[in-house]
Amino acid sequence: MLTDRCVRDVRRGDLGDILAIDAAAFATPLNENELLDLLRQRRVGGYAHECYGRVLGYAIYEHGRAGAHLLRLAVDPKFRRQGVGTALVQKILSLPDGRRADITATVRESSLEAALFLRACGFTARLKRGGFSDTHEDAYVFTSRIQEEVCVGR
Ligand SMILES: CC(C)(COP(=O)(O)OP(=O)(O)OC[C@H]1O[C@@H](n2cnc3c(N)ncnc32)[C@H](O)[C@@H]1OP(=O)(O)O)[C@@H](O)C(=O)NCCC(=O)NCCS
Repeated sequence: MLTDRCVRDVRRGDLGDILAIDAAAFATPLNENELLDLLRQRRVGGYAHECYGRVLGYAIYEHGRAGAHLLRLAVDPKFRRQGVGTALVQKILSLPDGRRADITATVRESSLEAALFLRACGFTARLKRGGFSDTHEDAYVFTSRIQEEVCVGR
C-alpha cells in the first residue's frame, strides 16, 4: 500500500507525467495550457504522488471559504488499486482547517469507478439532476465524512 508520505506539491517538472495520466483517465483530457491555467489560479492547489522516482497520480483541488473541492484526480492505470488515490485524498483531508472544512467532489453518474472510490474514502453522495451542463448528465456530489461530522455538531 502506497501512503501519503509519497505525496507532495506539484512541481513544474511533473506536468508531462500529469498530462499523460490525465489523458489515460479522462475522455476530455486537459492540455498543457489548461493545466497551467488551472494550477496558476490563486485558490487552486495540486498534489503529486511520487514513488519509484515517477509520478503515479495527481490531485488538483480548489479551496475557499466553504472548504475544498476536488477538481481533478487520477492515477496511472498501471498503479491503481494500490492506495495512490486514497493517499492523495488523505493529503487534501489533512489541509489546515480553514481550507478543508468542506470537502466535495462532483462526479458523473456514469463514473462508477470514481463513485466506488470516493465511497471507499468515506465520502457520502447526493444526486444532482442534470449536474453536468455539457451533457445534462446527472451528477453525484460527494462530501467527506469530516464535513458531515462538523455539520452534525453545529
Ligand atoms: C478512481 C481512481 C482515482 C482510484 O485510484 P486508486 O489509486 O486505484 O484508488 P485506491 O487504490 O486508493 O482505492 C481505494 C479503494 O477505492 C475502491 N476502488 C478504487 N477503484 C475501484 C474500482 N475500479 N472498482 C471498485 N472499487 C474501486 C476500492 O474499495 C479500493 O480499495 P481496495 O483496492 O482495497 O478494494 C483511479 O481509478 C482513476 O484514476 N480513475 C480514473 C479517473 C477518475 O475517475 N477520477 C475521478 C476520481 S474522484
